[in-house]
Amino acid sequence: MPVLELNEADLTRLTDDNLQPGELPSTMLAWVIREDRLGEPEAAIKLEEMECPEPGPFEVVIKVMAAGVNFNNVWAALGEPISVFRYHPEDHHIGGSDASGIVWKVGEGVTRWKPGDEVVVHCNQASYEDVEVHGLDPLAAPSQQIWGYETSWGSFAQFAKVQAQQILPKPANLTWEEAASYGLTYFTAYRMLMDRCKLQAGHRVLIWGAAGGLGVFATQLVAMAGGQSVGVVSSDEKGELVKRLGAVDYINRGDYALQRKGGETPEEEKARFKESRRFSKDVAEILGGEPDIVFEHVGKATFPTSVLAVKPFGKVVICGATSGYQLDFDVRYLWMRQKEILGSHFANAWEATKANELIEQSLIRPVLWQTMGFDKVPDAHQMLRDNKHLGKIAILVGATEEGQGKTADGPGAIRAEVGG
Ligand SMILES: NC(=O)c1ccc[n+]([C@@H]2O[C@H](COP(=O)([O-])OP(=O)(O)OC[C@H]3O[C@@H](n4cnc5c(N)ncnc54)[C@H](OP(=O)(O)O)[C@@H]3O)[C@@H](O)[C@H]2O)c1
Repeated sequence: MPVLELNEADLTRLTDDNLQPGELPSTMLAWVIREDRLGEPEAAIKLEEMECPEPGPFEVVIKVMAAGVNFNNVWAALGEPISVFRYHPEDHHIGGSDASGIVWKVGEGVTRWKPGDEVVVHCNQASYEDVEVHGLDPLAAPSQQIWGYETSWGSFAQFAKVQAQQILPKPANLTWEEAASYGLTYFTAYRMLMDRCKLQAGHRVLIWGAAGGLGVFATQLVAMAGGQSVGVVSSDEKGELVKRLGAVDYINRGDYALQRKGGETPEEEKARFKESRRFSKDVAEILGGEPDIVFEHVGKATFPTSVLAVKPFGKVVICGATSGYQLDFDVRYLWMRQKEILGSHFANAWEATKANELIEQSLIRPVLWQTMGFDKVPDAHQMLRDNKHLGKIAILVGATEEGQGKTADGPGAIRAEVGG
């Protein structure tokens, strides 16, 4: 289908309310990545008129009211580290792994949801036929994929196609944009702490990137569970946000030369190790003891410090590697003190449901930086790519302006006004 220039596209169609739930148009507007234009997000993500997806058995098509921006669609645009066209058979890629919206049409076999229901979406998919789904964990299934990254038909479009098990009730106390902003990072943080680390009252937790997408939820979860956290950040403004979210205190990582780059000389490594020790001592002082859990997603730069800082028999839980995925660290600190390293990836439907209930009760709150219009999808991703974002970005799709969709009282999202 031809690319549409923004000035020739009729964006009023996004908010056209002539259609009734149950009826799908034949085509829709979508932001699309194609294999022959992979590269910088602002050039790779183009507006196109696409066929509207029809729901298959146990599938649901939702009218997207708002979408959440995540780093995975930057990787999809760049085609790095591997092209998304190796994950799925479509010749197009509509990204977007977070959405709030309205159930528009349900496929054969769907009984829990009906057209008109207001929902949010978690992004884990797996085949109903894989045995792992029925007793182990859908994350263990060979068919497991992240919707809107390893699949197409994501949320940067008027309509998105999901499996029925991906749907959760939209918290009534949130606007559309707030509801679209938290799923991917919050549900990931929930599994890391609640399932993988069995977080308990009294646990002490060190959280890297505590003002980031994962960190704002890790910080709130620890406080809610009766634990104590210290958040690592790169500015005092971010530190103040982290304290507001329930951390005992924060550490500005600029005060320590502990970043592991790889290829250090023995002298440099010795100096780095000394800094990691100083950092670990300060963490223990703030928390009143060494951390039971270290919440990791930075990877290469911080992992040796994480293994050092965690207490004997403690856990380092990791779900990502922003600074590099080839890790090296002094393993003596692991085995002599019987520490554990735990991998974690997104969340299953049960965990997403339990986590969503905490949002419905306002015990955990989304943290939103900016809301942008549908025309800004490429720009929003370019901001992430250039590290010019200062927090979570939501995109209005079917919602005409911010503030719509809230049907119950509640505090809503925390607005992050933090510097980079
Ligand atoms: N497996 C999964 O299911 C899953 C799910 C979500 C995210 N992830 C991955 O987890 C990572 C973090 O995601 P996010 O949404 O939280 O990203 P984010 O919003 O960009 O936050 C990450 C934070 O990490 C800190 N950081 C970055 N480089 C660092 C370094 N060299 N040393 C120390 N801290 C550093 C930064 O905070 P300061 O500058 O303030 O320190 C940054 O704000 C990404 O790699 C993402 O792909 C994985």
